[in-house]
Amino acid sequence: MLDAWCIPFTYLTSFMKKKAYLFLIFSWISFLPARAQTQEIPASNLGLVPLPLEVKAYEGKFSLPAKIVIAAKTPDEQNVAGFLKDYFAVLGKVVTITPDASLATVNLKIGAITSKNPEAYQLTVNQSGASITASAGAGLFYGAQTLMQLLPPTAQENIAIPYVRIIDEPAFKWRGNMLDVARHFFPVAFVKKYIDNLAAYKINTFHWHLTDDQGWRVEIKKYPKLTQISAFRNESLVGAQQLMKKPEDFKYDGIPHGGFYTQEEIKDVVAYAQKRYITIVPEIEMPGHSVAILAAYPELACKPGPYQTRTLWGISEDIVCPSEETFQFFENVLAEVVPLFPGKYVHIGGDEAPKDRWRESDLVKGIMKKEKLKDVEQVQGWFNNRIEKFLLAKGKKLIGWDEILEGGISPKSTIMSWRGEKGGIEAARHGNEVVMSPASHLYLDHGQNPVPHSPVEPLMIGGYLPLEKVYSYNPLSSELTPAQHKYILGVQANLWTEYIPAPEKAEYMLFPALWLYPK
Ligand code: ACM
Repeated sequence: MLDAWCIPFTYLTSFMKKKAYLFLIFSWISFLPARAQTQEIPASNLGLVPLPLEVKAYEGKFSLPAKIVIAAKTPDEQNVAGFLKDYFAVLGKVVTITPDASLATVNLKIGAITSKNPEAYQLTVNQSGASITASAGAGLFYGAQTLMQLLPPTAQENIAIPYVRIIDEPAFKWRGNMLDVARHFFPVAFVKKYIDNLAAYKINTFHWHLTDDQGWRVEIKKYPKLTQISAFRNESLVGAQQLMKKPEDFKYDGIPHGGFYTQEEIKDVVAYAQKRYITIVPEIEMPGHSVAILAAYPELACKPGPYQTRTLWGISEDIVCPSEETFQFFENVLAEVVPLFPGKYVHIGGDEAPKDRWRESDLVKGIMKKEKLKDVEQVQGWFNNRIEKFLLAKGKKLIGWDEILEGGISPKSTIMSWRGEKGGIEAARHGNEVVMSPASHLYLDHGQNPVPHSPVEPLMIGGYLPLEKVYSYNPLSSELTPAQHKYILGVQANLWTEYIPAPEKAEYMLFPALWLYPK
């Protein structure tokens, strides 16, 4: 991974652009009588990513002593102190954590600050050391991340932190990133490293794409064949599928691929994320992208099988049939998934579900008649509404890709807009919550070279997504009114892994774009 010090200043992302003016006015008043600081100097070249809302830099630096004392009392203060302790240890420092603020080199404090946002913080570095205050653990954690960014990445002879006064809070409530572990399986150790990277850049939502045609990745005790059969495929396509025109172009590697997370592993990852103030949103795809399910449970299809966990990418016409058995299946699956994830949202996919099999199905025709549904898209709407009722009864909110709008959604559903912003705009106009995740700006599996499939880049999906485009993205569409903007929860970038078979390539694709989208 590149480090934050390498990034050109012009690429620094503003942590908050939109609400900046109001916030600045109010916080300015409360911060005018700043304690006797040395001379203010330009706050450039500090390497802070995303760029905090307000950064003031002063002449002088605080020299870190060999022994560092971190003051922390409450569980959140102590949790954050643990991260700083680990970081100072890397820098060769001996660290003690004490409840006594009077002794502190670094003072961590949960307490009232100007902003009510639990993710906001104030960080001061002056002659007495560093001090971070936030109204909640998340803010304190982000303050600590900013402090770490002011420190060097490795041990050095004399370490000094520049005098600063930083006031920060995010622009958006949902600052997400998705990792697809279905197309390629990634081990727990890498998922944790991925979460560390998100945390370092103040991303608070990890969307875990756990199921797809090419693999099912979560242990479900009621359906053991999901991890015996659906979690594995016989082989994978070699090369870029978009370039394959004739059947003979399709070549396979002959290497079985797969893996899954036990429920214990999932709980461990969730706890790991919670310590870093990251919420995990699990995605269990339905009704499309479900070939891996059919490989194990072909009775859930409209057409008799057999089926095989898919070995090429793209979209399959084979999807689950909306039968009572299928509802039973997904409800049983969700009954096991929901308790693993304490967050508010469960993602049900909903994208790219061709209706060929449903159109041919007598069962579906019967549902349309009985439920007075005009077309097969409405059948998906009806399907989603039933699943949503189930989730709501379990205290969870349904989120789905923008295709779920096509069959009609309830006012409670949240839309993740990936086919541009159109779906998100429509949903916000209806008063549904929206996460903007347009492929045009935030699909990090796309290439960064204007030449598609450039020989100087590794294999990738082939779209062109220059960093400037990632950086320029503003989810608050001018097609919406300020009142409608309040339904835009925020942004999310996605890492689909058809062409990302290993952690090294995932990181190659993720950086530096991860730094640059709005937060
Ligand atoms: C998607 O990229 N199919 C959501």
